Amino acid sequence: MTDIAILVGTESGNAQMVADALQEVLEEMSHAVSLHEEPCADELDLANREVMLVSCSTHGDGELPDNIIPFCDFLKENKPDLSHIRYGIVALGDQTYHQTFCQAGKDVDAILADCGAVRIGDRFEVDACTQPLPDEDARDWVKDWMEQLA
Ligand SMILES: Cc1cc2nc3c(=O)[nH]c(=O)nc-3n(C[C@H](O)[C@H](O)[C@H](O)COP(=O)(O)O)c2cc1C
Repeated sequence: MTDIAILVGTESGNAQMVADALQEVLEEMSHAVSLHEEPCADELDLANREVMLVSCSTHGDGELPDNIIPFCDFLKENKPDLSHIRYGIVALGDQTYHQTFCQAGKDVDAILADCGAVRIGDRFEVDACTQPLPDEDARDWVKDWMEQLA
């Protein structure tokens, strides 16, 4: 059994829907999951955390959703050593935003890596235009991701 924190970055709920699906699949696999809708370093207990998943959309012109900005700012300002953490990213976006496709997910990925955290597998980039059911795709992705984590 793995203890997994799922962090959500969302403006209009799609990334939350994906996070809920990830939680459901992982709990079906008997893992212990905590969902963080307002990610916060203290609540996440980063010093003792080992595995995290981030489900984050992009808004504005390649910007982070408001609810995950304080957490990202904390990491950028404090640069905690997260080399004991392995993580995965589901980045939600829309290909019609050519220049900034999934930029927020890419930014969260870079911020975590900058603190030494180790990404497992590829970032899963979800295009709202071609993937109308992102939670269904995420269910398959996370099963594969868990195999890579093992
Ligand atoms: C105002 C607005 C701006 C957006 N800007 C971007 C963007 O810059 N890049 C991108 O890849 N997707 C962008 N999107 C698409 C969203 O990321 C996508 O619809 C996503 O599924 C929304 O997830 P959420 O409901 O969790 O916020 C934008 C959507 C809206 C409504």
